[in-house]
Amino acid sequence: MLSTLSRKILMCLTGLFLSFFLLIHFLGNLQLFLPQEQAHLQFNAYSHFLSGNIVIKIVSYVLYASIILHALDGLIITLKNKKSGGNYQSDRRGRASKWYSRNMGILGTLLLIFLVIHFQNFWYVYKFGNLPLDKNGNKDLYILVVNVFKEWWYVIIYILSMIALCYHLIQGIYSAIRTLGLFHPKYVKWFKVAGIAYSIIISVGFALMPIYVFFTYR
Ligand code: HEM
Repeated sequence: MLSTLSRKILMCLTGLFLSFFLLIHFLGNLQLFLPQEQAHLQFNAYSHFLSGNIVIKIVSYVLYASIILHALDGLIITLKNKKSGGNYQSDRRGRASKWYSRNMGILGTLLLIFLVIHFQNFWYVYKFGNLPLDKNGNKDLYILVVNVFKEWWYVIIYILSMIALCYHLIQGIYSAIRTLGLFHPKYVKWFKVAGIAYSIIISVGFALMPIYVFFTYR
């Protein structure tokens, strides 16, 4: 059995790795905002390159393991907190803490549901579906993304999930700074500001992708 400290460190390390993945995923997906023809071929070529690269494949397995460990560890921590009466009703610090810091478990669960939908939308179809090929002979993932984001309900699901992601990231990065002992009074304000800025930029940027596709491909 893991101690509370090892559990927190595992949560922190997997969380930081997932945040790093998000940044790379975000930067790659920015190609969707390029002029249509360029976005189409470039996005598909980029995905093809990633899927054929052995290093990326290994990193992907680390990513899947991190998602599972982070979710399981989060579940155990949430259940333990509840059992020890650390929920917001009985926790006197609750009054001063933010609602999202008390509800990391709920935000995490929403993100897990989002990930199931997201994997079904793209990952599963790309890996196991029958996607047509583009002009360059690459699987046409771009058309799949456009077709998914043409549906208004997916746009709503993605926007709501990015709101959950934003709060989850803000609190997660703040906790990680504490767990790693970077909580120096002199720098804490700047770490906090950088964490909040990162969370907002990533979440708003991701939310703009379905909105952009929805309004561009009418
Ligand atoms: C809203 C804009 C987003 C778009 C357009 C998008 C697009 C995609 C696409 C096309 C894939 C399949 C690519 C492949 O398997 O090679 C994918 C995979 C994935 N996405 Fe997203 N994504 C978005 C947001 C997110 C967010 C917010 C998260 C996490 C919270 C996320 C997590 C993942 C993960 C974990 C994978 C699997 C990666 C792998 O197999 O290595 N995505 N995404």
